[in-house]
Formats: sequence, structure tokens, C-alpha cells
Amino acid sequence: ARAQVGVAHGRVPVPLMLHMSAAPGSAQILAGNSTSVLRYTAQQLAGPSGAVHPIPGSHLGPLLRIARGQRVVVDVHNAIGEDHVVHWHGLDVPADQDGHPKDAFPHGGSRLYDFTVRNRAGTYWYHTHVDMRTAIQAYKGLAGVMVVSDAEERALPLPRGRFDVPLVLQDARFNSSNQLVYTPNMMDGFLGNTVLVNGRSDFVLQASTRIYRLRLVNASVARIYKLAFSDGTPIVAIGNDGGLLAAPVQLPYVTLSPGERVELWADFSGKPVGSQIELRTLPFSGAGGSQGGALDVMRVDIVQSEPETLTLPATLANIVPYQLQNAVNANNPRVFPISMQMMVGFTLNGAPFQMTGVAANEIVQRDTLELVRITNTSGMMQVAHPIHFHGRQFQIHARSVTPGGQAGWQQLVPGCVDAGWKDTVLVMPGETVDLLLRYSKHTGLFLYHCHNLAHEDDGMMRNFRIDP
Ligand code: C2O
Ligand code: CU
Ligand code: CU
Repeated sequence: ARAQVGVAHGRVPVPLMLHMSAAPGSAQILAGNSTSVLRYTAQQLAGPSGAVHPIPGSHLGPLLRIARGQRVVVDVHNAIGEDHVVHWHGLDVPADQDGHPKDAFPHGGSRLYDFTVRNRAGTYWYHTHVDMRTAIQAYKGLAGVMVVSDAEERALPLPRGRFDVPLVLQDARFNSSNQLVYTPNMMDGFLGNTVLVNGRSDFVLQASTRIYRLRLVNASVARIYKLAFSDGTPIVAIGNDGGLLAAPVQLPYVTLSPGERVELWADFSGKPVGSQIELRTLPFSGAGGSQGGALDVMRVDIVQSEPETLTLPATLANIVPYQLQNAVNANNPRVFPISMQMMVGFTLNGAPFQMTGVAANEIVQRDTLELVRITNTSGMMQVAHPIHFHGRQFQIHARSVTPGGQAGWQQLVPGCVDAGWKDTVLVMPGETVDLLLRYSKHTGLFLYHCHNLAHEDDGMMRNFRIDP
């Protein structure tokens, strides 16, 4: 049934109304043959102007710019030839608007989404979420970025306009006729051999001698990135999954696992015109499988001299840390173990995905702060898993690792931006991560899962049910 939309009366603001479609297409990604892809397109029908920004030269979904508090009504048409459903990653929306695989709709069908953006300013994203087909559909292009703004963020002197750049990272593999190849395996999921940025290979940012806000989104099937600039430009994080940090953080490199976002304050103001800077993923081991190969991600070419007046703010946002003693189960964490089961693959909470199945320890109470523990300490075949909770931004309370996991942990976790609000957390082999998480006020069935999309498709996903 379609919701009643359109007429705004009284003081109710006008909803942002979009028509979106998911359909096959082709993209000129490499020289020569074009590549078959899937793509979202969107048109704005009503609401505050300038919400939809197609990314030039990209087959990925358009950038959606949305103000906090905005009601969004999106009619999504499915023309991809198989089931489809859209998930609004990071947003706190009602269960029936969240894009659960049980709400997938067939080719030729449409679904009307209607929700209000309650989240703070930040870099969120939308992507397909069909049971067992999420990886291939996202890999082929069904993903896009949502940038949410709010008054607190608008008041800060941050890079804006062409100096505020969303960058979607996906690794890929092409065959000799330039078609995407998807060959998953149980341990890795799927790792490509080349990195696409905003759907383009050999991506170059033509930059001025200015400071940039780079909003990195890891939309890869499985690849974990360990990112650094080739010329030693400092890695300064100002935001992550749930928006701005309380204060900037400088890191030796930044670790970004699938599903995570990070916002960098990238200062190119002192660079000579003509210089070229690579953003690379550095080699590492210890995340298991074949993770950790070195690859070039993108290049920044300094092409123009311009004066810069911005300076890095010492404080960015007001983030009130949760207190452990305020969690209702402070002495008795809710534990969700990661394990590997013969013939099943990786599981969460001891069982594979069941469309609507919920175990007794997956029933929680709305608006309740809990200590949630994810363990990756069982079995011989440990790999790193980015664990994501739907509809929630949580705080990372503590990490600990077994002696055997130390060496690998040391190669990636120092680059994790654990401050601020998170919806996805990398859990390394041998690691235990404690989260302080307040469940949504929305009741119903929500997902938590590994954001290695191949693991997710293999069943490393579970429901939790929020009760009134
Ligand atoms: Cu971005 Cu359930 O995922
Ligand atoms: Cu999500
Ligand atoms: Cu996983």
C-alpha cells in the first residue's frame, strides 16, 4: 500500500520526493569495451531543491544531499531482472523502511520508502540488500552516497563545495572483454586486483593548493584498506560512520573495512603545482585469507594554486561518551560470537541467517543502552570481519586481542578511527570488541551482519528484534 504523500499542510515541511530506478546499464570504465553494470538513477519530484547529484562519469548511484530532519519519500522501481531492495546504511529508520531482505520486491515492481532522517550530519550510503545477491548487485554498481547536513556541522569552517568530495572505493576484477568478474571464495569473500573510485579506474582528483574534505566510503565486497598518501601528507580524520568526531585525530594510516566511512582533512595547501600524490593501500598481513595486498587507490594532481584560509578546528562536535555503568547489562555483556562451521561457513551468534528467525539472545528492548560484545576467538580459520548493526550508531568501548592475534592486530587497528559514532566495526582475528549500543526507538526486526558482502551472502547475518 502506498503511503499518503504530496500535500504538506500546516507547518509540516515538504517531503523530499524522489523517483529512483535500479536498472542494467553500461559504463566506460576501461579503454575499449564498455562494462555491463547495474545502476541507480534518481529524479527529484518535490522538496528542497538540489538533493540529487549524479556523479560525473560514474555508474554508481547519485549523491543525495539531505538535511537532518527531512522527510524523504522515495519510489524505487526495480528493473534489474531479479529481486531487489534498498537499504539506507547508517540511518535510524523504521524496520519496514530499512531494506530488510524479507522486503525484497521483484523485477518490474516498485516500493515506496518513507522515512525521516533523524541522524546527525555525516556520510551515509544506500545499497542493495537482497538475500544471497547483495555482493554481486553492489559490485555491479547498486550503491550510492547520502550526505546529511545539520546546523552544528554547517556552523564549522570546513571545506565545502568542490572541496568536499565523496569517494566510493570498490575493488574489481575484469576479464579480457572488460566485464566484471566475480569469483568469491569462503575465506576472503572476493578481492579484486584494481581499485575503482566512484566507479572509475585510475581515478585522478584534479586539486588546487587547498584543504579538502575527502569522504571515503568502503563499498567493496570484502577488501580492507590501509590508506596513506605517498608523499607523507598527514592522515587527519575528522569524521567516520556517524559524522564528525569530537576532535580531529591524526593517524599513521587509516584503516577502512567494508561498510565503514571516514572523512579526511586532506591538506594540499603547501604542495607545489605539478605534484602528484598517490593514495595507496599499504600491504599488511594478519587479517586472514589474502587480505592486505598493496594497490594504488587514486591520484591527486595538484594543478592550480589558490590561497587557503581554513585551519583545522580544534574541536568539531559535541559527542557525549556513554558510560559503562549506564548500560543495563554492564556486568553481563550480550555476546555475539563469530565462528566458522564446517559446511556452513562463517556464522554470527552460532547460526546462519534465517530470514525472520531470531534467537532468544537476539531479542532486545527499544531505547536501551547495552554492552554488546563481538568475539572472533573461536576456531582455527580466523579472518577479519567488519560487523555492522542496522539502524544504529554505537560507541566502541574496548578492544582486546589474544596473544596470537597481536602481531596482525598491530598492523591494522592503530589506523581504525574508533572515536565518535560507528555503525560498522572491524573485528580482527583473535579480537574481542565491546560496544556501547543504545537500541533504536523503532521496534521490529533489524539486521546485524558481516559487511564482507560475500560472507553476508553466505549467511553471516542475523536478525535482532527490538521489542517495545
Ligand atoms: Cu551496509 Cu546491512 O548493510
Ligand atoms: Cu546498514
Ligand atoms: Cu565476515
